[in-house]
Amino acid sequence: MKRVEISCVDALVPHDEQKRLLRVAESELALLGRVAHDADYRNDRSSIHLPFDHALEKEVRSLVQDTDLLIVVGIGGSNLGTMAIHHAVQGMQHNGFAKPTVLFADTVDTRLLSDFCAYLDRYRAERLRVMINVISKSGTTTETIANAALLLQHAPDARIVVTTDEGSALWDLAGKQGYARLRIPKTVGGRYSVLTAVGQFPLAVMGIDVHSLLQGAAAMRERCLASSLDNPALQLAIAHYYHAARGKNISDSFFFSSYLESLGKWGRQLLAESVGKELDLHGKKVHTGITPTISIGSTDLHSIGQLVLGGPADKFTTFVTVEHETTLVVPEHALTTLIPHIAGKNLHALMHAISDGTMQAYREANLPFARVTIPSQNAYCIGQYLQLQMMSVMILASFFGVNAFDQPAVEKYKKHTHAILNGPLR
Ligand code: PA5
Repeated sequence: MKRVEISCVDALVPHDEQKRLLRVAESELALLGRVAHDADYRNDRSSIHLPFDHALEKEVRSLVQDTDLLIVVGIGGSNLGTMAIHHAVQGMQHNGFAKPTVLFADTVDTRLLSDFCAYLDRYRAERLRVMINVISKSGTTTETIANAALLLQHAPDARIVVTTDEGSALWDLAGKQGYARLRIPKTVGGRYSVLTAVGQFPLAVMGIDVHSLLQGAAAMRERCLASSLDNPALQLAIAHYYHAARGKNISDSFFFSSYLESLGKWGRQLLAESVGKELDLHGKKVHTGITPTISIGSTDLHSIGQLVLGGPADKFTTFVTVEHETTLVVPEHALTTLIPHIAGKNLHALMHAISDGTMQAYREANLPFARVTIPSQNAYCIGQYLQLQMMSVMILASFFGVNAFDQPAVEKYKKHTHAILNGPLR
C-alpha cells in the first residue's frame, strides 16, 4: 500500500524547539491515544475512531443504490469533504464521462439552483433516476433547508436520503416524511465529519472505494498517534505553530494538481474554524488564528508567485505534489520549436521540474515550507491525507490553547440570519 510522505526538512524549525513542542504536545497525544483505545464516540476527538467503525460502514452501504443523478445538498462541513474526495479521485471533468452525474447545492445562489431545477426537469422528462442527499449536522442551516425544499419539490420521484444528527429537528421530520436517514455521531463536528455518513454515503453512490478511503485514514491514524518527532501530524503542527508565533500566520497549501483544489478548500475550513478563536480554553481573549490560502501549481505561480517570493515573508507553505500512473508526452510539433528541450518530455516530468524549481526558489528566499507527497490520487491515499490534516489541526489547536471543535462565530451569523428572516424580506 502506498504511503503519503511528509517532509519538514525545509520547515526551518530548530531541533530544540521541535523537542520542546513535542513535550507540549504530549498531553494532547495521550488524549488522542485514549480516544483511539476507547473506540467510541464520547469525546470531541472521536472522529479518529471513524475509520474503524465497521458497523457504520455497513449501515451506509445498505442504503447505496445506483442512480443517474446525485445532488448533494449541504454546506461547509456537510459537503466540502465529499467534494474534495470526488474531485481528487474522480476528477473535475467527471460529469462529462461517468455516471452518476454529481451536483453540489451549497449556497442559495438563484442562478445555480435554477440550473439544478432545469436538470431535474430534464431527468424527470427522460425518466432517469435521481437521488438527493440532504446533509446538515444541525438540521437547521438556512441554505441547506431552503435548497432541499426547492429541489425536492422539483423532483417528486427522487430517492431521498437525509444525513443529520439523531434527534435533530431534521431527523424527526425526515422520519415523519418516510425519508431514509443516516446519523452523524453527536461528538463529531462538521469539519471533522467527512468520514461519517456525511462523506461515506454520497461517495459510495459515486462509486468511490469508501473502504479504501477508511483504510487509508486508519493507517495514517496509527502514524499520527506516535509520541515522537516521527509523527507526521505533529511535525506539521509544530512547523505551523512555530512560524505563526513568529509572524508567519498565513498557511498556504500549494497543490501541484488542479484536481486537489477542493481538498484545499476542505482544509481551509478545517484550519480556519479550528484555530481561529476569540477565546482560549480558559475564556481569555486571545484572537488566535492562521489564515489558510490555497495555491495551484503551476497556475498560481503566474498570479501570486511574485508576491510570495518578493513580498512580505508572512507565509508558511505546504507543497503537495502527486505522482501519476499515466504518461502524456509533449509531441514533436511546429509549436515545440518555440521552447527548447520540451519536445519528447512527459507532462509529469515538466510538472516535477516546475515544483522542484519552485521549492528551490523558496529555499533561496529563506521561506519555510513542508512537503507532502501523495503517491496516487486514489481513495486510499486521500484518506491518509484527510486524517493527517485533521489530527494535525487538533494538535495545533492544543498549542494555541483553543478549542479545536467549536465554531461560536459561525453560529453568530446563523442566529442573525434567522432573526432577519423573521422580519419583512425583500
Ligand atoms: O464547522 C462547522 O460546523 C460549520 O461550518 C458547518 O459545517 C456548516 O455551518 C454547516 O452546518 P450544518 O451541517 O449543521 O448544516
